Amino acid sequence: MKPLVVFFTREGSTRILAQAAAEKLQCATRELVDTKERKSMPSAAFSALLRWKAKLQNPDFSTEGFDLLVLMTPIWASNLPPAMNTFLAKASLQGKNVVLVGVGAGNANPNALEKFQGVAKKKGANVVAALDCLGIQLMKETASEQEDALKERGTKLGETILEKAGTEK
Ligand SMILES: Cc1cc2nc3c(=O)[nH]c(=O)nc-3n(C[C@H](O)[C@H](O)[C@H](O)COP(=O)(O)O)c2cc1C
Repeated sequence: MKPLVVFFTREGSTRILAQAAAEKLQCATRELVDTKERKSMPSAAFSALLRWKAKLQNPDFSTEGFDLLVLMTPIWASNLPPAMNTFLAKASLQGKNVVLVGVGAGNANPNALEKFQGVAKKKGANVVAALDCLGIQLMKETASEQEDALKERGTKLGETILEKAGTEK
C-alpha cells in the first residue's frame, strides 16, 4: 500500500494530527497552503458556507502512484475550507481509495462528513472511511499547547486507517 496524507490547516492542529497519522502509515504528507490567511472567523466561515475555492501556494494535485489518499481538513461551519474544496475539484480521484477525516472542535460533524463524502464520490473516489477527529477548541487552546494529545490522537487515527484500508485490499 502506498498512501499519501493530504491536509489543510489554519491553526496547526490538523498538521500535527496528519504528521502523526502519516508516521503510522509510513507515508508522506502534502500540505495544501491557501494564499489567503482567512484569519477572520466570520469570513472563514462564510467562505466555507459558500463552498468557495482557494488559490493554493505551489499547488500539487497529482495523485498517480498512490493507492490510498487520506484527506484531512478542519471543519468550518459544517463545511469544508476553500483549500480542500480546491483539491477535491482539481485532483483526479477516479477509482482512488480515499479516507476522509474531518477535524473539529466538537467530537462529531456528521453533516460535514456527509458533504465531504458526497463530493469525493461525485469525483469517482471509493470512500473507504469517513472519520471524525477531535482537534482544538480555538478560543481556549492552541495546537502547540495540545501537541502531545494531538500526536496521540493522530497515531490512533493512523491505526484506524490501517485497519479500514487493510480490509479493502
Ligand atoms: C471558521 C471556523 C468554523 C468552524 N466550524 C466548526 C464546526 O462547524 N464544527 C467543529 O467541530 N469545529 C469547527 N471549527 C473548529 C475547528 O475545526 C477546529 O478548531 C480545528 O481543530 C481547527 O483545525 P486547524 O488547527 O488545523 O486549523 C471551526 C473553526 C473555524 C476557524
